[in-house]
Amino acid sequence: MSKELIIDGIKVEPDPSKTVLEVAQELGIHIPTLCYYKGLTPYGACRICVVETIWKGKSKLQTACTFPAWEGEVRTNSEKVRKARKSILELMLAEAPEAKEIQKLAEEYGADREKYKVHRFGPNNKCIMCGLCVRICNDIIRIGAIGFKERGYKREITTPFEEYSDICSTCGACSYVCPTNAIDLKVISDRKITPVLSEFECGLTTRPAVYTPFPQAVPNIPIIDKDNCMHFLNNSCDICELVCEPEAIKYDQEDKISEEEVGAIVVATGYELYPILNLEEYGAGEIEDVIDGLAFERLLSSSGPTVGEIRRPSDGKIAKDIVFIQCAGSRDPEKHKPYCSRICCMYSTKQAMLFKHHVHKGQPYIFYIDIRSGGKGYEEFV
Ligand code: SF4
Ligand code: SF4
Ligand code: FES
Repeated sequence: MSKELIIDGIKVEPDPSKTVLEVAQELGIHIPTLCYYKGLTPYGACRICVVETIWKGKSKLQTACTFPAWEGEVRTNSEKVRKARKSILELMLAEAPEAKEIQKLAEEYGADREKYKVHRFGPNNKCIMCGLCVRICNDIIRIGAIGFKERGYKREITTPFEEYSDICSTCGACSYVCPTNAIDLKVISDRKITPVLSEFECGLTTRPAVYTPFPQAVPNIPIIDKDNCMHFLNNSCDICELVCEPEAIKYDQEDKISEEEVGAIVVATGYELYPILNLEEYGAGEIEDVIDGLAFERLLSSSGPTVGEIRRPSDGKIAKDIVFIQCAGSRDPEKHKPYCSRICCMYSTKQAMLFKHHVHKGQPYIFYIDIRSGGKGYEEFV
Protein backbone atom coordinates (compact mmCIF):
# COMPACT_ATOMS: atom_id res chain seq x y z
CA MET A 1 0.00 0.00 0.00
CA SER A 2 1.41 3.39 -0.97
CA LYS A 3 2.05 5.88 1.79
CA GLU A 4 -0.39 8.71 2.13
CA LEU A 5 -1.13 11.66 4.34
CA ILE A 6 -4.76 12.54 4.94
CA ILE A 7 -5.48 16.03 6.23
CA ASP A 8 -9.13 16.63 7.11
CA GLY A 9 -10.09 13.91 4.64
CA ILE A 10 -7.89 15.24 1.79
CA LYS A 11 -5.28 12.76 0.57
CA VAL A 12 -1.83 14.08 -0.32
CA GLU A 13 1.68 12.70 -0.74
CA PRO A 14 3.58 12.71 2.57
CA ASP A 15 6.49 15.18 2.44
CA PRO A 16 8.55 15.27 5.66
CA SER A 17 10.57 18.20 4.27
CA LYS A 18 7.47 20.28 4.96
CA THR A 19 5.47 20.73 8.15
CA VAL A 20 1.82 19.80 8.58
CA LEU A 21 1.08 23.52 8.78
CA GLU A 22 2.73 24.21 5.41
CA VAL A 23 0.86 21.38 3.70
CA ALA A 24 -2.44 22.43 5.30
CA GLN A 25 -1.89 26.01 4.12
CA GLU A 26 -1.22 24.76 0.59
CA LEU A 27 -4.57 22.94 0.77
CA GLY A 28 -6.30 26.09 2.00
CA ILE A 29 -6.97 24.61 5.45
CA HIS A 30 -6.79 27.21 8.20
CA ILE A 31 -4.85 26.38 11.35
CA PRO A 32 -4.48 29.24 13.86
CA THR A 33 -0.90 30.31 14.60
CA LEU A 34 0.69 32.84 16.93
CA CYS A 35 4.40 32.11 17.25
CA TYR A 36 4.85 31.00 13.63
CA TYR A 37 6.30 33.42 11.09
CA LYS A 38 7.30 32.32 7.64
CA GLY A 39 11.02 32.78 7.18
CA LEU A 40 11.84 32.04 10.83
CA THR A 41 12.63 28.56 12.09
CA PRO A 42 9.46 27.23 13.83
CA TYR A 43 9.78 27.19 17.57
CA GLY A 44 6.56 25.55 18.80
CA ALA A 45 6.14 27.96 21.69
CA CYS A 46 2.49 28.93 21.74
CA ARG A 47 0.95 25.52 20.82
CA ILE A 48 -2.18 27.14 19.38
CA CYS A 49 -1.55 25.34 16.07
CA VAL A 50 -2.06 21.98 17.77
CA VAL A 51 -3.59 19.25 15.55
CA GLU A 52 -4.57 15.62 16.12
CA THR A 53 -2.36 13.06 14.38
CA ILE A 54 -3.45 9.45 14.03
CA TRP A 55 -0.83 6.87 13.19
CA LYS A 56 -1.17 3.11 13.63
CA GLY A 57 -4.43 3.73 15.48
CA LYS A 58 -2.80 6.03 18.05
CA SER A 59 -4.04 9.59 18.43
CA LYS A 60 -1.65 12.33 19.53
CA LEU A 61 -1.63 16.11 19.71
CA GLN A 62 1.21 17.76 17.81
CA THR A 63 2.07 21.33 16.92
CA ALA A 64 1.42 21.70 13.19
CA CYS A 65 4.15 24.32 12.71
CA THR A 66 6.88 21.88 13.81
CA PHE A 67 5.46 18.43 12.99
CA PRO A 68 6.67 16.97 9.65
CA ALA A 69 4.08 16.03 7.05
CA TRP A 70 4.62 12.30 7.49
CA GLU A 71 2.18 9.58 6.47
CA GLY A 72 -0.92 9.10 8.59
CA GLU A 73 -4.00 11.11 9.32
CA VAL A 74 -4.24 14.68 10.59
CA ARG A 75 -7.37 16.31 11.98
CA THR A 76 -7.04 20.05 12.29
CA ASN A 77 -10.34 20.85 13.95
CA SER A 78 -11.51 17.74 15.80
CA GLU A 79 -13.16 17.89 19.21
CA LYS A 80 -9.88 16.90 20.83
CA VAL A 81 -8.09 19.73 18.99
CA ARG A 82 -10.70 22.35 19.90
CA LYS A 83 -10.58 21.26 23.54
CA ALA A 84 -6.79 21.55 23.59
CA ARG A 85 -6.86 25.00 21.96
CA LYS A 86 -9.49 26.10 24.47
CA SER A 87 -7.23 25.09 27.40
CA ILE A 88 -4.19 26.77 25.79
CA LEU A 89 -6.18 29.97 25.37
CA GLU A 90 -7.40 29.89 28.98
CA LEU A 91 -3.77 29.79 30.10
CA MET A 92 -2.88 32.59 27.69
CA LEU A 93 -5.72 34.72 29.02
CA ALA A 94 -4.17 34.50 32.48
CA GLU A 95 -0.86 35.58 31.04
CA ALA A 96 -1.95 38.18 28.50
CA PRO A 97 -5.49 39.26 29.39
CA GLU A 98 -5.25 42.49 27.41
CA ALA A 99 -4.18 40.88 24.14
CA LYS A 100 -6.98 41.46 21.63
CA GLU A 101 -5.86 38.61 19.36
CA ILE A 102 -6.05 36.17 22.29
CA GLN A 103 -9.45 37.51 23.32
CA LYS A 104 -10.70 36.97 19.77
CA LEU A 105 -9.42 33.40 19.62
CA ALA A 106 -10.74 32.73 23.14
CA GLU A 107 -14.19 33.71 22.00
CA GLU A 108 -13.93 31.48 18.94
CA TYR A 109 -12.97 28.45 21.05
CA GLY A 110 -15.26 29.24 23.99
CA ALA A 111 -12.35 29.68 26.42
CA ASP A 112 -13.27 30.69 29.96
CA ARG A 113 -11.69 34.03 30.92
CA GLU A 114 -12.04 33.29 34.62
CA LYS A 115 -10.58 29.78 34.59
CA TYR A 116 -7.14 30.85 35.82
CA LYS A 117 -6.17 33.80 37.94
CA VAL A 118 -4.45 36.56 35.97
CA HIS A 119 -0.82 36.28 36.97
CA ARG A 120 0.76 38.98 34.89
CA PHE A 121 -0.04 42.62 35.39
CA GLY A 122 1.46 45.83 34.11
CA PRO A 123 2.71 46.82 30.67
CA ASN A 124 3.55 43.26 29.65
CA ASN A 125 0.08 41.83 30.01
CA LYS A 126 -0.32 41.50 26.26
CA CYS A 127 2.77 39.31 25.83
CA ILE A 128 2.29 35.56 25.45
CA MET A 129 6.05 34.87 25.59
CA CYS A 130 6.05 33.39 22.11
CA GLY A 131 9.59 34.64 21.48
CA LEU A 132 8.88 35.79 17.93
CA CYS A 133 10.29 39.27 18.62
CA VAL A 134 13.50 37.84 20.07
CA ARG A 135 13.95 35.47 17.15
CA ILE A 136 13.39 38.07 14.44
CA CYS A 137 15.76 40.53 16.11
CA ASN A 138 18.37 37.82 16.49
CA ASP A 139 17.99 35.64 13.40
CA ILE A 140 16.81 38.07 10.73
CA ILE A 141 17.83 41.56 11.81
CA ARG A 142 20.97 40.00 13.32
CA ILE A 143 21.14 42.52 16.14
CA GLY A 144 19.88 40.63 19.21
CA ALA A 145 18.80 43.71 21.15
CA ILE A 146 16.13 41.95 23.23
CA GLY A 147 15.78 38.66 25.07
CA PHE A 148 13.92 36.82 27.81
CA LYS A 149 14.44 37.58 31.47
CA GLU A 150 13.53 35.40 34.48
CA ARG A 151 11.38 32.26 34.43
CA GLY A 152 7.78 31.21 34.95
CA TYR A 153 5.26 33.96 35.55
CA LYS A 154 8.09 36.48 36.02
CA ARG A 155 9.39 35.83 32.53
CA GLU A 156 9.43 38.87 30.29
CA ILE A 157 10.95 40.35 27.17
CA THR A 158 13.50 43.02 27.85
CA THR A 159 16.86 44.51 26.93
CA PRO A 160 20.12 43.58 28.72
CA PHE A 161 20.11 45.09 32.23
CA GLU A 162 16.68 46.51 31.37
CA GLU A 163 18.37 49.62 30.04
CA TYR A 164 17.80 51.39 26.76
CA SER A 165 19.48 49.35 24.07
CA ASP A 166 22.30 51.09 22.27
CA ILE A 167 22.27 48.50 19.48
CA CYS A 168 18.55 48.49 18.69
CA SER A 169 18.12 50.15 15.30
CA THR A 170 14.40 50.85 15.96
CA CYS A 171 13.66 48.98 12.74
CA GLY A 172 10.32 47.90 14.23
CA ALA A 173 10.56 44.28 13.03
CA CYS A 174 9.87 42.95 16.54
CA SER A 175 6.77 45.07 16.84
CA TYR A 176 5.64 44.12 13.33
CA VAL A 177 5.73 40.37 13.96
CA CYS A 178 4.38 40.42 17.51
CA PRO A 179 1.03 38.62 17.29
CA THR A 180 -0.43 40.50 20.24
CA ASN A 181 0.89 44.02 19.68
CA ALA A 182 2.82 43.82 22.94
CA ILE A 183 6.01 45.59 21.89
CA ASP A 184 6.59 49.18 22.92
CA LEU A 185 9.70 50.39 21.13
CA LYS A 186 9.95 53.37 23.46
CA VAL A 187 10.86 50.96 26.26
CA ILE A 188 13.58 49.31 24.17
CA SER A 189 15.34 52.35 22.74
CA ASP A 190 15.46 56.06 23.41
CA ARG A 191 16.35 56.75 19.79
CA LYS A 192 13.88 58.96 18.01
CA ILE A 193 11.62 56.78 15.91
CA THR A 194 11.01 58.40 12.55
CA PRO A 195 8.41 56.48 10.58
CA VAL A 196 8.54 56.70 6.80
CA LEU A 197 5.59 58.76 5.64
CA SER A 198 3.62 57.66 2.61
CA GLU A 199 4.24 60.05 -0.29
CA PHE A 200 1.05 58.96 -2.03
CA GLU A 201 -1.03 59.58 1.09
CA CYS A 202 0.61 63.01 1.43
CA GLY A 203 2.21 62.07 4.73
CA LEU A 204 -1.14 61.31 6.37
CA THR A 205 0.00 57.77 7.11
CA THR A 206 3.18 55.70 7.08
CA ARG A 207 4.44 53.12 4.62
CA PRO A 208 6.90 50.23 4.88
CA ALA A 209 10.29 50.12 3.14
CA VAL A 210 8.90 47.70 0.56
CA TYR A 211 5.71 49.02 -0.96
CA THR A 212 3.57 49.52 -4.04
CA PRO A 213 3.75 53.27 -4.72
CA PHE A 214 -0.02 53.65 -5.22
CA PRO A 215 -3.00 51.38 -5.93
CA GLN A 216 -3.10 51.96 -9.71
CA ALA A 217 0.68 51.97 -10.20
CA VAL A 218 1.90 50.61 -13.54
CA PRO A 219 3.47 48.11 -13.23
CA ASN A 220 1.52 47.24 -10.09
CA ILE A 221 4.40 45.66 -8.20
CA PRO A 222 6.20 46.56 -4.99
CA ILE A 223 9.48 48.44 -4.93
CA ILE A 224 12.15 48.60 -2.25
CA ASP A 225 13.03 51.97 -0.78
CA LYS A 226 16.79 51.53 -0.41
CA ASP A 227 17.13 54.60 1.81
CA ASN A 228 14.94 53.00 4.47
CA CYS A 229 15.36 49.24 3.98
CA MET A 230 17.43 47.58 6.71
CA HIS A 231 19.02 45.27 4.15
CA PHE A 232 20.56 48.21 2.31
CA LEU A 233 21.19 50.33 5.39
CA ASN A 234 23.23 47.80 7.35
CA ASN A 235 22.91 44.50 5.53
CA SER A 236 20.94 43.12 8.45
CA CYS A 237 17.59 41.87 7.18
CA ASP A 238 16.48 39.66 4.29
CA ILE A 239 13.02 38.62 5.41
CA CYS A 240 11.40 39.69 2.09
CA GLU A 241 13.64 37.32 0.20
CA LEU A 242 12.90 34.51 2.67
CA VAL A 243 9.13 34.79 2.56
CA CYS A 244 8.58 35.70 -1.10
CA GLU A 245 7.30 32.50 -2.70
CA PRO A 246 7.76 33.51 -6.36
CA GLU A 247 11.36 34.47 -5.44
CA ALA A 248 10.83 37.93 -6.89
CA ILE A 249 13.16 39.75 -4.49
CA LYS A 250 16.51 40.52 -6.09
CA TYR A 251 18.49 42.88 -3.91
CA ASP A 252 21.05 43.54 -6.63
CA GLN A 253 18.49 44.72 -9.19
CA GLU A 254 19.14 48.24 -10.47
CA ASP A 255 17.02 50.80 -12.31
CA LYS A 256 17.55 50.59 -16.04
CA ILE A 257 16.50 52.56 -19.09
CA SER A 258 14.93 50.52 -21.86
CA GLU A 259 14.15 51.81 -25.34
CA GLU A 260 10.77 50.99 -26.93
CA GLU A 261 9.33 51.51 -30.43
CA VAL A 262 5.93 53.25 -30.11
CA GLY A 263 3.28 54.49 -32.52
CA ALA A 264 2.21 57.62 -30.66
CA ILE A 265 3.18 59.73 -27.67
CA VAL A 266 0.83 61.37 -25.17
CA VAL A 267 2.42 64.36 -23.49
CA ALA A 268 0.95 64.89 -20.02
CA THR A 269 2.51 67.88 -18.31
CA GLY A 270 1.60 66.88 -14.76
CA TYR A 271 2.03 69.38 -11.96
CA GLU A 272 4.12 70.18 -8.97
CA LEU A 273 2.61 70.97 -5.60
CA TYR A 274 3.63 74.22 -4.00
CA PRO A 275 5.52 73.10 -0.86
CA ILE A 276 3.16 73.47 2.07
CA LEU A 277 6.11 74.10 4.38
CA ASN A 278 6.61 77.45 2.60
CA LEU A 279 3.26 78.55 3.99
CA GLU A 280 4.31 79.06 7.56
CA GLU A 281 1.97 82.04 7.92
CA TYR A 282 -0.87 79.47 8.14
CA GLY A 283 0.94 77.20 10.59
CA ALA A 284 1.90 74.61 7.95
CA GLY A 285 4.43 72.15 9.35
CA GLU A 286 3.57 73.18 12.90
CA ILE A 287 -0.15 72.59 13.12
CA GLU A 288 -1.01 69.04 12.06
CA ASP A 289 -4.47 69.97 10.85
CA VAL A 290 -3.13 72.42 8.25
CA ILE A 291 -2.97 70.32 5.09
CA ASP A 292 -2.95 70.99 1.37
CA GLY A 293 -5.62 70.25 -1.23
CA LEU A 294 -4.10 66.96 -2.32
CA ALA A 295 -3.97 65.65 1.26
CA PHE A 296 -7.64 66.59 1.61
CA GLU A 297 -8.31 64.65 -1.57
CA ARG A 298 -6.78 61.56 0.10
CA LEU A 299 -9.00 62.09 3.15
CA LEU A 300 -12.03 62.14 0.87
CA SER A 301 -10.98 58.96 -0.92
CA SER A 302 -12.52 55.67 0.16
CA SER A 303 -9.15 54.03 -0.55
CA GLY A 304 -7.34 56.72 1.47
CA PRO A 305 -5.84 56.53 4.96
CA THR A 306 -9.17 57.25 6.68
CA VAL A 307 -11.27 55.21 4.21
CA GLY A 308 -13.10 58.35 3.16
CA GLU A 309 -13.86 59.72 6.61
CA ILE A 310 -12.79 63.32 7.11
CA ARG A 311 -10.70 62.85 10.23
CA ARG A 312 -8.31 65.43 11.65
CA PRO A 313 -4.68 64.34 11.36
CA SER A 314 -4.01 65.64 14.89
CA ASP A 315 -6.45 63.50 16.87
CA GLY A 316 -8.38 61.38 14.38
CA LYS A 317 -11.67 63.09 15.23
CA ILE A 318 -14.19 63.91 12.50
CA ALA A 319 -13.58 67.49 11.32
CA LYS A 320 -16.67 69.62 11.82
CA ASP A 321 -15.65 73.05 10.57
CA ILE A 322 -13.06 73.41 7.88
CA VAL A 323 -11.60 76.40 6.10
CA PHE A 324 -10.23 76.47 2.57
CA ILE A 325 -7.77 79.31 2.07
CA GLN A 326 -7.60 80.38 -1.55
CA CYS A 327 -4.52 81.74 -3.32
CA ALA A 328 -2.23 80.18 -0.67
CA GLY A 329 1.20 80.48 -2.27
CA SER A 330 -0.05 82.25 -5.39
CA ARG A 331 -0.75 85.84 -6.45
CA ASP A 332 1.84 86.96 -3.93
CA PRO A 333 4.97 88.13 -5.81
CA GLU A 334 6.77 89.18 -2.66
CA LYS A 335 6.66 85.89 -0.80
CA HIS A 336 5.38 83.21 -3.14
CA LYS A 337 4.32 82.80 -6.78
CA PRO A 338 3.09 85.86 -8.64
CA TYR A 339 0.50 84.04 -10.74
CA CYS A 340 -2.90 82.40 -10.20
CA SER A 341 -3.01 78.59 -10.19
CA ARG A 342 -6.30 78.67 -12.17
CA ILE A 343 -7.63 75.56 -10.45
CA CYS A 344 -7.88 76.20 -6.69
CA CYS A 345 -11.23 78.02 -6.78
CA MET A 346 -12.88 75.18 -8.65
CA TYR A 347 -11.43 72.26 -6.75
CA SER A 348 -11.99 73.92 -3.36
CA THR A 349 -15.65 74.37 -4.28
CA LYS A 350 -15.83 70.74 -5.33
CA GLN A 351 -14.13 69.62 -2.12
CA ALA A 352 -16.36 71.81 0.05
CA MET A 353 -19.37 70.11 -1.55
CA LEU A 354 -17.88 66.66 -1.01
CA PHE A 355 -17.10 67.57 2.59
CA LYS A 356 -20.79 68.41 3.16
CA HIS A 357 -21.64 65.11 1.53
CA HIS A 358 -19.34 63.22 3.95
CA VAL A 359 -20.04 65.26 7.11
CA HIS A 360 -23.67 66.34 6.87
CA LYS A 361 -23.53 68.60 9.91
CA GLY A 362 -20.08 69.95 9.05
CA GLN A 363 -19.49 73.50 7.87
CA PRO A 364 -16.93 74.35 5.18
CA TYR A 365 -15.80 77.95 4.70
CA ILE A 366 -13.91 79.31 1.70
CA PHE A 367 -11.71 82.37 2.30
CA TYR A 368 -10.93 84.06 -1.00
CA ILE A 369 -9.69 87.29 -2.59
CA ASP A 370 -12.01 86.79 -5.54
CA ILE A 371 -13.39 83.68 -7.19
CA ARG A 372 -11.90 82.89 -10.58
CA SER A 373 -14.19 80.43 -12.26
CA GLY A 374 -13.19 80.77 -15.89
CA GLY A 375 -14.56 77.96 -18.05
CA LYS A 376 -17.78 76.62 -19.47
CA GLY A 377 -20.35 76.06 -16.72
CA TYR A 378 -17.85 76.93 -13.96
CA GLU A 379 -19.64 80.10 -12.89
CA GLU A 380 -22.88 78.14 -12.44
CA PHE A 381 -21.00 75.48 -10.45
CA VAL A 382 -19.60 77.90 -7.87
S1 SF4 B 1 13.38 47.44 16.74
FE1 SF4 B 1 15.25 46.96 17.90
S2 SF4 B 1 14.65 45.24 19.20
FE2 SF4 B 1 13.11 45.39 17.58
S3 SF4 B 1 13.85 44.01 15.94
FE3 SF4 B 1 14.61 46.05 15.44
S4 SF4 B 1 16.65 46.10 16.36
FE4 SF4 B 1 15.58 44.39 17.33
S1 SF4 C 1 6.39 40.72 22.79
FE1 SF4 C 1 5.07 39.79 21.23
S2 SF4 C 1 6.47 38.67 19.87
FE2 SF4 C 1 7.60 39.12 21.77
S3 SF4 C 1 7.32 37.31 23.03
FE3 SF4 C 1 5.72 38.75 23.60
S4 SF4 C 1 3.96 38.20 22.33
FE4 SF4 C 1 5.75 37.21 21.41
S1 FES D 1 2.17 28.54 15.89
FE1 FES D 1 2.79 26.52 16.19
S2 FES D 1 3.40 26.44 18.23
FE2 FES D 1 2.92 28.55 17.90
